[in-house]
Amino acid sequence: MAKSPSYVCAACGHVTSKWSGRCEACGEWNTIQEDAGLAASGPAKKTLGAQRGAAMQLTDLSAQEVPPPRAQSGIAELDRVLGGGLVPASATLVGGDPGIGKSTLLLQAAASFARAGLKVVYVSGEEASAQVRMRAQRLGLADASVRLAAETNLRDILTTLEAEKPDLAIIDSVQTMWADNVDSAPGSVSQVRAAAHELTNFAKRRGTSVILVGHVTKEGQIAGPRVVEHMVDTVLYFEGERGHQFRILRAVKNRFGPADEIGVFEMTGGGLSEVGNPSALFLSERGEPAPGSAVFAGIEGTRPVLVEFQALVAPTPHSQPRRTVVGWDGGRLAMILAVLEARCGIPFAGLDVYLNVAGGMKVSEPAADLAVAAALLSAREDVALPAETVVFGEISLSGALRPVAQTEARLREAAKLGFTAAIAPAGGKPADAGGMNLRLVPDLVTVVGEHFGAG
Ligand code: TYD
Ligand code: MG
Repeated sequence: MAKSPSYVCAACGHVTSKWSGRCEACGEWNTIQEDAGLAASGPAKKTLGAQRGAAMQLTDLSAQEVPPPRAQSGIAELDRVLGGGLVPASATLVGGDPGIGKSTLLLQAAASFARAGLKVVYVSGEEASAQVRMRAQRLGLADASVRLAAETNLRDILTTLEAEKPDLAIIDSVQTMWADNVDSAPGSVSQVRAAAHELTNFAKRRGTSVILVGHVTKEGQIAGPRVVEHMVDTVLYFEGERGHQFRILRAVKNRFGPADEIGVFEMTGGGLSEVGNPSALFLSERGEPAPGSAVFAGIEGTRPVLVEFQALVAPTPHSQPRRTVVGWDGGRLAMILAVLEARCGIPFAGLDVYLNVAGGMKVSEPAADLAVAAALLSAREDVALPAETVVFGEISLSGALRPVAQTEARLREAAKLGFTAAIAPAGGKPADAGGMNLRLVPDLVTVVGEHFGAG
């Protein structure tokens, strides 16, 4: 039988029989590539049911399960994002843009876990051992008992791990691994999948925790971390803006802890250092209250975090006004602009709108709606919000404000950082305002009337 060529999307792993410029599954451009490894693993000849397998042991839901013992690295920001430490026999993917600091983070984590008594193996497929050692020296980690290898051959790596039986194996990166039984180039979807599959299998079988590094790629020449997300227990993304020192480690999937948890780090000359109080960091560049600025009392995972939204509104020279957003959802901004126009009679037609979250943070909570609206109104009307005021609340299409979760935690964090007042949805009156002066508002029109002199 002639082998039909198979094509696969490097961004999402969607398989198709013909090439196209755009993936029909995820909509990414230029990510479809030929992958011989896929055609080789065609459908099985016989259905599994035709042959008898072994009988399974079934158990009850009520069977007592002890929570997994976790290993702490001592890097609190990392341990929390992992859900309280590293779970034995777990597979974790750490994704992020090239150069964001994944290798640095994992080398520091390797050293910390080794110092905590774990047997750690660090396999680099990208750098020579000498390079990794040099970095370790620069970071002051050279004394940690991490075992090191520079290797990309998956078979050799697995054989070594079988013999060494480490508690933790770090593979940097999964895109450089090469399985000799798969018929395509390293970095292709089937190679990356095969490597992730073999390594997660090894983790389950031998009780070794495995951490895979995966580069986020834009061009689609190399398979991105999304094609292995479903295979691992935990998916962490390491994010940050170039030119900013902050790095955020975010759990987007975690079988052993809450997703959406973040850990905040700062990239320094001596590696990554933990940021125990991110709110203070994100607000550190804030000067006197200025028009266009609103401080949002947000929740990231289990932790309250204050961030500043900045808006700039200016007459446009173009026929189509600009809408530029950094750190927040563009679709959500369009919705808030529409609500301001339709429900409050404040048009943004003919005006360019720029919205930015200070410090390179990304916010996805709908609770930030009111802070975004306040920043936009403040910029448009050229009126600063009262000083020492935080804002939160979800805006519905009717212009009403919806209460949000964890009001008290938001207020406590704001009070801790010296804020004295909050504008919040009327429906979310907390039992304890933590000494904050609360202004509870039912809808956006009221906010406009009270602070921006219209309505
Ligand atoms: P790296 O961990 O190699 O990134 P990744 O593995 O995600 O590709 O980090 C690379 C960047 O980090 C590089 O631009 C230099 C910077 N860096 C520091 O600023 N301080 C340090 O101590 C180290 C080790 C790296
Ligand atoms: Mg690296």
